[in-house]
Amino acid sequence: MNIIEKVEKYVKEQISIYKKNSEDHYDFWNEHIKYVYVESLKLAEEYNADKEIVSLGALLHDIALINKVGERKDHHINGEKIAQDILNKFNYEESKKERVLRCIYNHRSSKNATTIEELCVSDADILAHFANIPMLFNLAYNKNNINLNEVRDWIRASLEKDYNDLSDRTKEVFKNRYEQICNVILND
Ligand SMILES: [Fe+2]
Ligand SMILES: [Fe+2]
Repeated sequence: MNIIEKVEKYVKEQISIYKKNSEDHYDFWNEHIKYVYVESLKLAEEYNADKEIVSLGALLHDIALINKVGERKDHHINGEKIAQDILNKFNYEESKKERVLRCIYNHRSSKNATTIEELCVSDADILAHFANIPMLFNLAYNKNNINLNEVRDWIRASLEKDYNDLSDRTKEVFKNRYEQICNVILND
């Protein structure tokens, strides 16, 4: 197994433990991580970024949430520490390891990104929402208890917010797709 396969296997194992033992039984792989992974690789291709660094960053970016370490607000900090231990365990090359860890530490906003690989992971974290629209409706109806008559505005606001959180570069790349999605979902 190469390093990406090893890390993917580890992350999937941790996700199945989370799914079994947590209150919400959230399926991190099928609802979030796999979409971040796929979208980050599309961006890596578009931006000529290092695909290995981006893959590992995408797979590990929310590991602190999956492993339930610390508070959500600190999950980029705790995630960096956990990922360091994992990559050390797999004897991953020091210089590459640092680049992956920066992707995790800076994944909360593309404004924090200092490298193209970090930008791929942070933007893919947002694009994952557009790739999983059913989750957005689930959030609206269940978690946020939005009424049917308000759901359109809520969905519109959250799609708009996500789009605005993208880097300027990815906004441009994603613009047509964003307009298509809004058109289908909201009839805008
Ligand atoms: Fe995150
Ligand atoms: Fe995430």
